[in-house]
Amino acid sequence: MAIADSSAAPGSTEHGVRRRDFIHIVSGGFVAAGAAAAAWPFISQMNPAADTRALSTVEVDLAPVASGQAIKVMWQGKPVFVRNRPEAEVKAMRAVSLSELRDPQKDEDRVQAGHDNWLVTLGVCTHLGCVPLGAAQGEPKGEYGGYFCPCHGSHYDASGRIRKGPAPKNLEVPTYAFKTPTAIVIG
Ligand code: FES
Repeated sequence: MAIADSSAAPGSTEHGVRRRDFIHIVSGGFVAAGAAAAAWPFISQMNPAADTRALSTVEVDLAPVASGQAIKVMWQGKPVFVRNRPEAEVKAMRAVSLSELRDPQKDEDRVQAGHDNWLVTLGVCTHLGCVPLGAAQGEPKGEYGGYFCPCHGSHYDASGRIRKGPAPKNLEVPTYAFKTPTAIVIG
C-alpha cells in the first residue's frame, strides 16, 4: 500500500487514501446496518407475540358453576380448579384450627374477600404433580371433602389445604382477579 501511494501524485494519493478510507468506512457502515437488519427478526422473535400474551391469562365465566360444583380450566398448560363452595362448607373450613394443618393457612387467606365462596387453586398435587380428583361431578373428594390425589393418596380439604397423605403443601392459589362478580381472570 505504501508503494502505490508513493508513486501517485501527493494530491491524488491523499485523495485515494481518503477514498479508500471512505470506502472502508462506508462498507463498514453497511456491515453494521446489515447486522442490525439481520438481528431484527431475532430480536423481534424474542418479544412475546400477542397470541402468546393472551394465553398467559384466561378468563373464566363463573355463572354456570352452581353452588357445590367445581370446574377445571386450563391455564398456561396447568389445570386450575374453580369451586363454588356452599356457605356451610366455607364455615366448616374457617372453623378448622391451624394447629390441625400441615401447611397452616387460614381459609380467609386462600380466597378473595367478598368472594369467599370461590376457591381457585391449581389442580396439581404438591407431592409429585398428579392431578387430584374432586373437581368433576362424581369424583371422590377425599376424606376432607375437597380433593383426592389417587397417585399416592393425598387428601385436601375444601380450602385446598393438605390434610392427609404425602403431599407437603396446600394446593397453590394462582394469581387471579374478579373482572365482574361472575367472571375471573387467572394470570
Ligand atoms: S402426586 Fe399426589 S399424592 Fe403423590
